[in-house]
Amino acid sequence: MSQSDGDVHPVVDSTAVFKDGIFKNKVLFCTGGGSGICRVMTEAVMRHGASAAIVGRNEERLKETAQELSAATRNVCLAIKADVRDPRQVQAAVKQTIERYGRIDFVINGAAGNFLAPISGLSENGFRTVIEIDTFGTYYTIKATLPYVRAAKGSYIHVSATLHYRGTPYQVHVSAAKAAVDATSAVLAVEEGPHGVRSNVIAPGPIAGTEGENRLSAKGPTRQNHWPLPMGRKGDSRDIANATVFLFSDAASFISGQILVVDGASEHLRVPMLPYPESVLDPASTKHLIKARM
Ligand code: COA
Repeated sequence: MSQSDGDVHPVVDSTAVFKDGIFKNKVLFCTGGGSGICRVMTEAVMRHGASAAIVGRNEERLKETAQELSAATRNVCLAIKADVRDPRQVQAAVKQTIERYGRIDFVINGAAGNFLAPISGLSENGFRTVIEIDTFGTYYTIKATLPYVRAAKGSYIHVSATLHYRGTPYQVHVSAAKAAVDATSAVLAVEEGPHGVRSNVIAPGPIAGTEGENRLSAKGPTRQNHWPLPMGRKGDSRDIANATVFLFSDAASFISGQILVVDGASEHLRVPMLPYPESVLDPASTKHLIKARM
């Protein structure tokens, strides 16, 4: 069997490794849980017994997801419309969660915004928008949930990225935002550790089939398609979900203030997403490789 078969490191569901009821009576509050990776993270935590509240801007999608997650896991999932850029909306979402469940044990800070744009072509508002969603949204969510997470001696996971470990072209907004998220998590871990709260970051690499991959991968025959995959396959949302279950579980009770990169070692071999330096010398020449704005 060759490594490219993808069978060397198969994706497994967390229920094949961790016990069913490890999160029984626990409550998860997840921003961005309506879709993508955060939805799969929420489902995995619910499959181990937790109830959840998923928070986002798209009410219709949230409601649909909440119904599907409840049906799939037989645990309750609440859909709450809120924009994480508005602290009052986040506070209201937390209030609703407490009114429904009476507690919050776990928080996933997952709401994020992204698109490809060079500094020279990114507006001030574009930069601010991503910082507001990723960084301010994370901070507002921490602020609003902290009294409850402290009471539960619970745990935070912030979904970050690996882009800011190097200078990634076209990603200044996200790089700045996620670097701040990583720093925030470390401070939270240190300040709240004595209160029994843990805080960690999961940094996903490229995960197949996600909005992020679709939005950020260059289209067409670019170098991106030749990105080496040390594990013989791309990441799967369930890889991130499994890391989530581990970090929330008691098996990780001494792990806090850490960044867990879940990327199958691909960061060590990362190449520019767009042809370099062509994409920065002449952005118009690579426009056809970037997903158009919706
Ligand atoms: N290229 C350049 N600038 C962009 C852009 C793009 N593809 N998308 C948004 N912007 C800029 C806008 O131009 C605007 O700045 P301006 O007022 O100077 O023109 C600013 O960002 C805000 O954009 P707007 O569309 O008004 O904000 P929004 O709150 O509706 O949505 C995002 C912003 C980032 C959330 C939007 O891109 C989005 O909905 N993304 C999909 C979800 C997503 O990104 N998920 C994460 C995947 S990793």
